Amino acid sequence: MSQSRIAAVDVGNDSVKAIFGELDQEFNIPNITARDIEDRPVIGIEELDQKDPLEGIHIRVHSPALQENNAIYRVGHLASKSTNSTELDPGSGKSQEDQTLIMLFASIALDAAKANKTGSNNVIDANYTLGTGLPLREVKEGKDAGYRSKLLGSVHQVEFLVTPKYQGIKVNIKFDEVKVYPEGFAAYINLVMDHDLKIINKDLIDKRILIQDIGGLSTDIAVIKNRTVDDDKAQGFNLGVSESLENIREEIFSNHGVEVDSRRDVVEIITRNNDRNHIMVKGSRTSVHDITDRILMELAKKQYRLLRNVWQKNSQTEICYFVGGGSNVLKEYIKTLNNNLDGFNIEFFEDDKESIWMMANAYYKLLSEFTKKTEKLKEEKKTVKKS
Ligand SMILES: Nc1ncnc2c1ncn2[C@@H]1O[C@H](COP(=O)(O)OP(=O)(O)OP(=O)(O)O)[C@@H](O)[C@H]1O
Ligand SMILES: [Mg+2]
Repeated sequence: MSQSRIAAVDVGNDSVKAIFGELDQEFNIPNITARDIEDRPVIGIEELDQKDPLEGIHIRVHSPALQENNAIYRVGHLASKSTNSTELDPGSGKSQEDQTLIMLFASIALDAAKANKTGSNNVIDANYTLGTGLPLREVKEGKDAGYRSKLLGSVHQVEFLVTPKYQGIKVNIKFDEVKVYPEGFAAYINLVMDHDLKIINKDLIDKRILIQDIGGLSTDIAVIKNRTVDDDKAQGFNLGVSESLENIREEIFSNHGVEVDSRRDVVEIITRNNDRNHIMVKGSRTSVHDITDRILMELAKKQYRLLRNVWQKNSQTEICYFVGGGSNVLKEYIKTLNNNLDGFNIEFFEDDKESIWMMANAYYKLLSEFTKKTEKLKEEKKTVKKS
């Protein structure tokens, strides 16, 4: 049996963030899938070899955990180019959707294909210790247990179809252990602890804090008190940043006739250091600041209202941290509002990557601590037997 490899996977509504092994591998894959009825036509073989596998994830997934077994999917960038792609519906439960599992298995299979050499039969047997999360709401409803046993109970197979570099490879994923953490709690852990779960933030650990996670499609506010998440106070809202980014894209097109390729490119325009909020129109540098300012300020106001409401209900809160990709985009707007309005004690992350990878980092920390502990236990058992 092969050795168990760590997989820390945050299946976000907007994108999956996954960290593997000894931090030697990480992927960020848009959370988009598209069902394929037939195998898609092969593009030239040369093209298959040169391209990045992440650009062409095309898989058949075999797993009893799925409602639809043995279906073929395009995943991530490749799916975004199809007409029948589906993104997660914010109202639905992460633990109940095939899409969550497809994304999870796809990211793990990519790691396995990259990390392992296949035998002559093109099959990789891969063992993982998985750390992942579910929204607080679903954990509260007890969905985490079912989700975990679905994953633990069987072998899940990902077969790469027309995927660059990996075409024909089959990965059998087996989980030796699965940990399902509540998302808000994970963010807290990441804030106060380092990779050995040593406390790095003594000041913070016993404070009453809020963590406002502004994602692509949703916003979650976790309430932390006595070092635990207060389940009853936590709130989730179907309000993310994706819609605003899409609106900016549309308005740039209608006002300037310039087609910005993706939401990701919009983020680039509004966050880059040089030429921020400017685009080229027929070769002239043109400001789109009016558009971005108006749309993002509108969303910032809504986000600020959410904060205000939750803070009112938790009046002894000492600080609120803003995390998630949406916080990067709205940082300056929310700060400005706060300066002019309530003056709450709020904090953002300087490093954009840190706030986006918050959950995945937390799962990784929690998992590596867990595996260290179990290894230590095994060692102790061995010595007891010997003596
Ligand atoms: N530096 C960045 N890199 C990538 N995306 C960014 C960045 N800054 C902001 N974003 C935007 O933030 C959003 C994604 O945020 P995030 O990854 O936190 O969402 P998610 O966790 O996948 O979604 P949700 O929390 O709704 O489940 C996207 O709309 C993305 O365009
Ligand atoms: Mg998220």
